[in-house]
Amino acid sequence: MKRVWLQDCNTAMKHIHILGISGSLRSDSTNTVILKTLGSLLPSDISFEIFQGLDEIPHFSPGIADNGPLSRFKQAIQQATAVVVCTPEYAFGVPGTLKNALDWTVATGDLNDKPVSAISASPLNSGGSNALASLLLTLTALGTKKNEGSALSVPNIKSKIGPDGQINDEGLLEALRMQVDNLMRLIHST
Ligand SMILES: Cc1cc2nc3c(=O)[nH]c(=O)nc-3n(C[C@H](O)[C@H](O)[C@H](O)COP(=O)(O)O)c2cc1C
Repeated sequence: MKRVWLQDCNTAMKHIHILGISGSLRSDSTNTVILKTLGSLLPSDISFEIFQGLDEIPHFSPGIADNGPLSRFKQAIQQATAVVVCTPEYAFGVPGTLKNALDWTVATGDLNDKPVSAISASPLNSGGSNALASLLLTLTALGTKKNEGSALSVPNIKSKIGPDGQINDEGLLEALRMQVDNLMRLIHST
């Protein structure tokens, strides 16, 4: 695992690790491509992982005990310095699998004060803006640390990914670099 050490205002040394959460379960998900690309744009000494197994998390209901996949999800969030969520839009909303997973963190506050970046991508012109707005509301309810630069809507995503499966749109790459920069600012701000 790659590691970086930085000095925060308390002079404690802190390793930066970013967790990516894709709202899509599809193996050739365009949203997961965006997450992987964002991970590749991070400074080389910051570690990055994409959570696997969102669909194994049980349906949310207060009072149900943690199972393995849920504990793994919560632990991944707790161990992350910051979280990037990238999601498609289904029926004008956030995919149920993603919302379900996030609902589990309400009571335990795993995302409280956690710097976040929220991204939606769609093959349509709308860029999944309904899902993004809904996701941002949820992230607000969860007490995440974000600002006006923490959100990105990506329209026409299929035209921005080449036959090699890589993003080939310079505007999108620049927008992802800005998400990375903003996330770093949030991480370093107290
Ligand atoms: C049942 C269904 C409903 C959808 N609803 C929306 C929608 O409301 N808004 C939208 O932008 N795209 C919608 N889409 C298109 C998805 O955004 C598209 O399939 C996207 O590529 C899925 O993301 P992924 O590539 O990361 O898996 C829908 C697709 C399906 C199959």
